[in-house]
Formats: sequence, structure tokens, C-alpha cells
Amino acid sequence: MIRIENATKLYGRTGPDGAAVHALNGVSLHIEHGEFVAIMGPSGCGKSTLLHVLGGLDVLTSGEIFLEDEPIHKLDEAGLTRLRRNKIGFVFQFFNLLPTLTVEENIRLPGVLQNVATAKIESRSMELLAAVGMEHRARHRLHQLSGGEMQRAALARALFMEPRVLLADEPTGNLDSEASAKVVKLFREIGEKHRTTIVMVTHSRDVAAAAHRLVEMRDGRVV
Ligand SMILES: Nc1ncnc2c1ncn2[C@@H]1O[C@H](COP(=O)(O)OP(=O)(O)OP(=O)(O)O)[C@@H](O)[C@H]1O
Ligand SMILES: [Mg+2]
Repeated sequence: MIRIENATKLYGRTGPDGAAVHALNGVSLHIEHGEFVAIMGPSGCGKSTLLHVLGGLDVLTSGEIFLEDEPIHKLDEAGLTRLRRNKIGFVFQFFNLLPTLTVEENIRLPGVLQNVATAKIESRSMELLAAVGMEHRARHRLHQLSGGEMQRAALARALFMEPRVLLADEPTGNLDSEASAKVVKLFREIGEKHRTTIVMVTHSRDVAAAAHRLVEMRDGRVV
């Protein structure tokens, strides 16, 4: 599903001595269709950078990334936008939900932005609210939710367009262990049901244990 070959990402002269930062320093990684991979490693080792380039939010300095044989390292801005809209779902640590919208409206947003038919939006959002156990909170706004509920709403929104790949950056970073366990169980169930490929960054061994495989990074490399 995902093939990363010798990927490097160099950020400009921002280091302490004015040197460039090698956020990715020759990463090669293959991920199977339907696989659930956890990525761990110390702060600053390149985990978020890897998710960003995988999701077309940023571009590599050198190397190659293929998503279902599509060379995403060759895409221009329009191609990357299409990729993000059609194939990728993102879940970030701080949710990225819009505070003035209700849970339901947040979940529907990707469909509204892409002009999906209203009836389809309606049925899909009901289905997803049920899948993440949030039907009873559909009309709540963000400040009326717990951290775990926000995270489940963010997951539902990421799944709206039925992405082939779900990328999650510390999705349980703000949650206690009970809420983390619930969210990660949901990832696993959804991955298995729809054969969604999942790449999840986490700092928690317990959360990582729910994945099929653990990939460890250090200093911009997979170790
Ligand atoms: N836009 C940027 N410009 C310059 N350097 C950057 C930029 N983004 C990240 N970096 C640097 O690249 C390295 C990797 O950053 P990244 O965010 O991928 O780390 P991470 O593994 O996700 O860390 P954390 O666990 O703290 O989230 C870090 O040293 C960081 O300072
Ligand atoms: Mg990070």
C-alpha cells in the first residue's frame, strides 16, 4: 500500500549552529494494505515529518514515496490536494475540529466541502456517529465534550470520505489510559472492517501494542 524508499527531508539552516536539520535521513519502509503500524521514537526524531510527507502535507527533499503505486513524490500542489481529499484521513493530537460547529457538523464537513449529495452526507454521518459511539453527542459543540469524545469525533471526520490510508499523530496524546484504550480499539476495529491502512504515531507502549507492527525511529531513521 505504501512504499517509502530512501526518503530524506532537510529543513533549511535552522539548527543551533545554523546547520540544516535532517528531519528524515534515509527512511525506507513498506506498509501492507490493511496493516496497522505504530511509529515510536524520541521527540524530534522525525515521526510527524514522516506522516506529513506520507499525507502530502509536505514534500521530500529526496527519495520516493508510492501510495498504491502512485509516485506521490512527483505530484504537484494540485495532485497533492487531490490525494489528501480522496485517499487520506488525518487525525491529529489537537483534533483540528472547528469549535463553532457541532460534532455532527464537524463530521460532515469533508462531504460538504466536496459537494457530496445531502442525503448521502446525512446517512454517512449517522453511520459514523454510531461507529464511534457519539450519537448522543451529535449536537454538542467542542467545549461540551470530553477529550476522548473530541478524539472520537476527529476520527469520525477523518473517516468521512472513506480514506484508503488513515494517518494519526499522537491521537491519544491528551487522553488518560482508559480513554486511550477505547480510541485505539476503535482504530483497530475500523481498520479491520474496511481494510484501512493505518499509520499511527504514539509515545505510549500500551497504545502501540494494539498495532500489528511497531516501527521505531531515531534521528531521522527507522531503527
Ligand atoms: N518546519 C520546520 N523547520 C525546521 N525544522 C523543523 C521543521 N519541522 C520540524 N523540524 C525539525 O525536524 C525534526 C523532526 O521533527 P518532527 O516534528 O518530525 O519530530 P517528532 O518525531 O514528531 O517529535 P515529537 O515527538 O516531539 O512530536 C526536529 O528536529 C524538528 O526540530
Ligand atoms: Mg511530532
